[in-house]
Formats: sequence, C-alpha cells, structure tokens
Amino acid sequence: MKYNFDKETIRRGSNSYKWDMPKEDGVLPMWVADMDFEVAPCITEALEKRVAHGIFGYTLVPESYYEAVIRWFSRRHGWDIQRDWILYTSGVVPAMSSVIKALCMPGEKVLVQTPVYNCFFSSILNNGCQVAESELRRTGDTYEIDFEDFERKCADEKTTLFLLCNPHNPACRVWSKAELRHMNDICRRHGVRVVSDEIHCELVMPGCRYTPFAAVSDDCQNNSIALSSPSKSFNTAGLQMANIVCNDAETRRRINRALNINEVCDVNPFGPIALEAAYNGGEEWLEELNQYLYQNYLTLRKFFEDRLPQLEVMRLEGTYLVWVDTKSIGLRSDELTERLLKEGKVLVNSGTMYGKKAGEGYIRINIACPRSRMLEGLERIAAVLSNNTKE
Ligand SMILES: Cc1ncc(COP(=O)(O)O)c(C=O)c1O
Repeated sequence: MKYNFDKETIRRGSNSYKWDMPKEDGVLPMWVADMDFEVAPCITEALEKRVAHGIFGYTLVPESYYEAVIRWFSRRHGWDIQRDWILYTSGVVPAMSSVIKALCMPGEKVLVQTPVYNCFFSSILNNGCQVAESELRRTGDTYEIDFEDFERKCADEKTTLFLLCNPHNPACRVWSKAELRHMNDICRRHGVRVVSDEIHCELVMPGCRYTPFAAVSDDCQNNSIALSSPSKSFNTAGLQMANIVCNDAETRRRINRALNINEVCDVNPFGPIALEAAYNGGEEWLEELNQYLYQNYLTLRKFFEDRLPQLEVMRLEGTYLVWVDTKSIGLRSDELTERLLKEGKVLVNSGTMYGKKAGEGYIRINIACPRSRMLEGLERIAAVLSNNTKE
C-alpha cells in the first residue's frame, strides 16, 4: 500500500469530539463516525497552502469547486449533475434540516427506515414534523426493506417526505438499483418526495456498488433531493462542507430560503479547499482506505467467531460502522454500552440511539482506525463479555 493506515496518530488532546468527550481516563473510542486516519496528503498540502496565506475572511465558493463535484460524480458514479443544481452548506445535518423546513409543514410525517442515523429523528422533530418509521426487516446477517410496510407508511396522507440513508447507517446496506427504484415507485404512487442522504457513498466494500438515488432514472432524479459530502470518506467532518443537489428550480429556491433562515449558508475557508483536493486528487487514497477498512472488518468478524461466537456481526456492505447483534448477552443495549465503558474502557454506540425498538439488542462499532487499535478495542470488549454470556 502507498498510504500507511497502520500509523497510530495520537488524537487525545487534539480537541477531538471522538477522543476528548469521554470523561473517564484511557477510554478507547469506537463510537462517533470519524476516522483515526490522517487525511490524504493532497488535502493536507492544499490546506497548508491556504493557512500560509494567513487571512481567513468570509468565503466565496469558486467555480472550480462545482466542477470538482460534477466531475467526481460523473466519473465515479455515472451521475450527471448540472452546475446550478448544487447548493452548498455547512454539513449534511444542516442540509437535511433545511430541506425538511423547506418542504414540510409542521405536523406532517417524514418517513425513515429504522434503525437509522440518530440525527434523522432530531432533524424531523426540530422542524415540528413527526417521525414515521418503517422498520427494516432482519434476514440472516443483513437487512431488507419490508415494502408492504413501507407502502402503508407512504400511503398515510400525512407522510410527505421520505428520508433515505444510502448507503445505510447503521444497517450497513448499500441499496441496489432495484431496491431504489422500487422505493421511488412507491413514493411516487403516494406523492412522497425523497431526500437521499448519501454521505457514506464512497465507503463501499468489495462486491457492492453504490448507485446515487437520482442516477437510477429520470423519475428518481425528478422526485429526489440528494445530500452529500466528502467528509466521511475523506475524514474531513470538522471542516463542515456539504452539498444539496436538486434539479427543480422552485424546490431549490425554497431550500435556499431555508438555508438562509437557518443561517447555514456560509462555509469556512477550508471546507471548499479540502473538497476540491479530495475529489481532484484523493481517489487512490480512497481506494486503499476501502481495502484497509474491509480487512479490518474481516479481522473483526474472525475475532468475534473465535472469541465471542454468541454475538452476531452483521454483513458490512458500506460504511465503517459495524452493527452487532448482542441479544444473547441478555442485557439491554444501553446497559451493555455502559458496562463496556465502565468495565472495559471502550466506547461504542448503543443501538437504541438509532431507534428505540429497531436498535434494541445491538451495538455499533466504529472500525475506522489502525488495525492494532481496533484489536485493542475488541480485546476490551471480549474481556467484559466473555464473563457475561447467557448461553
Ligand atoms: C447518515 C449520516 N448523515 C449525516 C451525518 C453527519 O453529517 P454532517 O457532519 O455533515 O452534518 C452522519 C454522521 O455520522 C451520518 O452517518
């Protein structure tokens, strides 16, 4: 490998939310979704150049930024975006919140597929809307869509928007073209617009293929708004840069108003530079990252098979967030997470963050770290759980 993902960069003490949030000493964090890898050198170099300039006033996003986004999605994913379809903002969550504000009346329902990323719930509720849940159906070591239930929820006249997670965090699914098309057909039948959060779109394991929702068909394009950012895959979440892509001028005008009302229409000087560097020069690094993450996943699976066979590791198609069924332990997810923290000094996410019912009995483990660090975390988990198993 050209890039060294084994390097153990010390993050504690760097104002890292992931590392410096835990109050207890010596905690190994395997929770919030950022990675312990230094970014691609092309990103650091571009940022260093900008820092050397020494002035950090308000930012104008240049044309070259839009060109980088358009080229990236066209080349890698066969999705042709036009320049004026793109609105930028300071994050995918601010984007999501603004889109809900723009398109939904308070009291309306926004559909989500649980278990799902926790901010989906808060974005919906903060905009005065209600959450409509269609639980994903567990089948073996993965999840599928219960299309009957999905259609029932879409048919509710209060449901006006569907918030899709593609690829899905934490169900680890990279939705197929057929699944995306089927979801859109149902949404169309019931007048439901689709907002597709595609922040994890570059984190895809071998044998799986991400399809942008809007690239499935003209109809999918016309019925959807896409949210994306290089921040998960290139580890630049703190630089706060995201895009909203929508081909309808009137919808864009409304979203733009909401971005202004929410005051999330400005970005910092580093966000656009990091995006351009990543999309223009980071592809090789990204390919190696995905290989490394997949090896981490296989290592984790083997570890669980050998040492904790009573736990079920779900299939990882996308993201670096591994979803583990812990029901055999006989503890509620929140209790288990607490014990792992107190007794094992390892911090994972409790499944209930992603749906009280759908996430109960699961934990989510972030494996985007050097393999030695991941193994240390797994040892800590095993030390707590091997004494605690209900056969
Ligand atoms: C599905 C999903 N959307 C959005 C975000 C956060 O996006 P941002 O930091 O750009 O607001 C995350 C972070 O984990 C995520 O998993």
